[in-house]
Amino acid sequence: MAAPPPFDAFRYAHAHRGEVAWLCQNTNHLVPPEVIRGAVETALRERRYEGYPLASGEPELLELVARDFGRPGLVPFLTSGGTESLYMIARALLSSGDEVVASDPSYLIIHRFIELAGARTVNLDIYRPPFRLTAERVAEAIGPKTKMILLIDPLNPLGSGYPREEVRAIAELARDHRLTLLNDVTYRDFSEGHALAAEFAPEETVTVWSVSKNCGLAGLRLGGLLATPERVQTVARYNTNDLGVNIFAQVAATAALRTKASWIGKVVEQTRKNGARIRDVVARVPGTTLPVYPSRANMMVIDIAATGIDPEALQQELLKRHGVFVRAGNYLSPTHGREFVRVSFSNPPSDIDRFEASFPTVMRSLRPVPATAR
Ligand SMILES: Cc1ncc(COP(=O)(O)O)c(C=O)c1O
Repeated sequence: MAAPPPFDAFRYAHAHRGEVAWLCQNTNHLVPPEVIRGAVETALRERRYEGYPLASGEPELLELVARDFGRPGLVPFLTSGGTESLYMIARALLSSGDEVVASDPSYLIIHRFIELAGARTVNLDIYRPPFRLTAERVAEAIGPKTKMILLIDPLNPLGSGYPREEVRAIAELARDHRLTLLNDVTYRDFSEGHALAAEFAPEETVTVWSVSKNCGLAGLRLGGLLATPERVQTVARYNTNDLGVNIFAQVAATAALRTKASWIGKVVEQTRKNGARIRDVVARVPGTTLPVYPSRANMMVIDIAATGIDPEALQQELLKRHGVFVRAGNYLSPTHGREFVRVSFSNPPSDIDRFEASFPTVMRSLRPVPATAR
């Protein structure tokens, strides 16, 4: 008899999405839905889906994005999620043999795009204090083949963020060595006092942004980049959305950015409260720790290495038995992926209640039995 197919957590979770507390993708479930609904309903009523959007993007949306960043001289470009920008940037700015200074853990999809361009990442192990890159370590890693530095701030999965002076120092390295600084700021609205690398190295920095997490629009797939007009032109050669980005995504993002100042504070506040509750749960479970707390994003890592429990087993058990979906670390770190799970928490408090009720129980049930007790 053929072996059963391996458990597909995403397939299972989507099939049961009405019952799942989605703590696995750093998505944001706290933005007031009225903000989005009205805009999308109007676009639906006007049957805007029948025509192509303006290829360069809705002018108001472009204006709102530019204003959100407040960097005169830098221009936004829209893509289907920040992901597409990341792919285009790797393709347009890297060649075979180039090196990119990056980290481990990291958002590894970017590393994959870098490899597709024929380049390779030099991954600095940051699974130790201060759980982020430092200008000193980046400087040591820069060699004759280095073309780019990857600065994800705040960092998925750890939730660590960069102090302003560190961003400045890394930006200065990029400037001095004429490197591209890829500054992925997907989670910047969750980070107090966030500094953009573009402030310090506007020519060298290509900023990647997204409305998936701050505006709670992950399903609509809209993001982009921000750079000098020359850089945008170079990267845009690899644009496949020649006919524009999804119109519903554009109207929703426009509505969200227009009103962001009125609701983002509450979203971040609830996210912080949820993070504190998760910290308290983790503190009660022997052998589990939070490497980074508080998170500057809406996710963090729970280290479970001392328990001997496999993160994949924990993910599966929480999801199948309790409908709580956290993410096993192997997707985020080649070196440390078996030591942690990632949990995100821009969620209603009821989702955190479910985490609180299930995490200690599942950890107890999975704990390996000591040899003496067998
Ligand atoms: C660091 C980082 N960059 C980019 C993305 C993708 O964003 P988008 O949904 O806009 O494609 C993610 C998604 O998790 C992320 O964590």
